[in-house]
Amino acid sequence: MLLSETVSLLFCLILVLAAGSGSTREHKDLCSTCRQIVDNFNKGFERTANKNFGGGNTAWEERKLSKYETSEIRLVEILEGLCDSGSFECNHMVEEHEEHFETWWFKRKTKHPDLLKWFCIETIKVCCPKGTFGPDCNTCVGGAERPCHGNGRCDGDGTRGGDGKCSCDDGYEGDFCLDCAERFYNEERNDTFSLCKECYPSCTKCSGGTAQDCEECRDGWEEDQEGTCVDIDECSSDPFPCKEKEYCLNNDGSYSCSVCDSRCSGCKGPGPGNCLACSEGYKDEEGTCTDVDECELPDKVCTEEHQECVNTKGSYKCLCESGFQEQDGVCVPQPETEESEEEPASDTEDSPTTDKVTEREDL
Ligand SMILES: *[C@@H]1O[C@H](CO)[C@@H](O)[C@H](O)[C@H]1NC(C)=O
Repeated sequence: MLLSETVSLLFCLILVLAAGSGSTREHKDLCSTCRQIVDNFNKGFERTANKNFGGGNTAWEERKLSKYETSEIRLVEILEGLCDSGSFECNHMVEEHEEHFETWWFKRKTKHPDLLKWFCIETIKVCCPKGTFGPDCNTCVGGAERPCHGNGRCDGDGTRGGDGKCSCDDGYEGDFCLDCAERFYNEERNDTFSLCKECYPSCTKCSGGTAQDCEECRDGWEEDQEGTCVDIDECSSDPFPCKEKEYCLNNDGSYSCSVCDSRCSGCKGPGPGNCLACSEGYKDEEGTCTDVDECELPDKVCTEEHQECVNTKGSYKCLCESGFQEQDGVCVPQPETEESEEEPASDTEDSPTTDKVTEREDL
């Protein structure tokens, strides 16, 4: 087969499929429009229940005209309230089938009081009775009384569309919605009835609802000697599941890793008090890693002339004293011109007083 033929064949197939699903949706929409119309008809019927022709009906008029209750005037009043003016589908359907409303109102109402059944289902055939679907109103799987055995929704239920396939409720699966989904078990079951309940949270398969009823443990859980699924403590497993500068937190069914405090070099928990060792520039002070003030060390760390030491977190800086600026690694007096304070600032990113001569960066 030529490629172009294959492509056009595929294209046709897509068109057919699209048209198919479109008409299904259309049927469902038509039915819901019809239901809405009938709903509004019934509301209009109630609204007009206590009305009459309004104003001075004489006995003669009462006799001569049919009573308001069954009159054309009342029908017209009801018909006027069936659709919002903006709803094209609704207005179209009412206009198209106006004579049916008249027929029903004058001739069928007594014998067929259910307008939804008479109009939407039997006359214009856009809906089906509950529990049936599709063009011929076929019965849903499981019967019209309990579609999908009461555990799901039958596609197209109550409309002339759909394919009758069941979409099962949570906990149920299979074409008939009689099987239990994963992590559910059958508490009751026969050919037509199924009740599924959730397993104990630690199991994926079970025969009952308690921890002892597990048949298969969930990921992160394992069976102990008694056959109960218990949480695995991944944090105590070998190899350690987290990275070097992280600590591990166990939880039900899993674990998480978090980055250690920057003051720690390895840790067993959050903050500077759970360090295994201190990062460079920090020392252990009563179990907490604390910054070392390098400027207070007995051996001076800033040794150049006119330098002063500034302590930083985990490190220190050697800056030029005020009145001096850094030049080729040494501190030289600042020129005494007026612009002396501004010029060097536009020179480099660092302002003159923070020019670094020596700096140890903490990693
Ligand atoms: C299946 O079980 C349900 C609920 O217990 C019960 O009502 C029904 O009669 C049973 N059907 C059969 C065929 O046993």
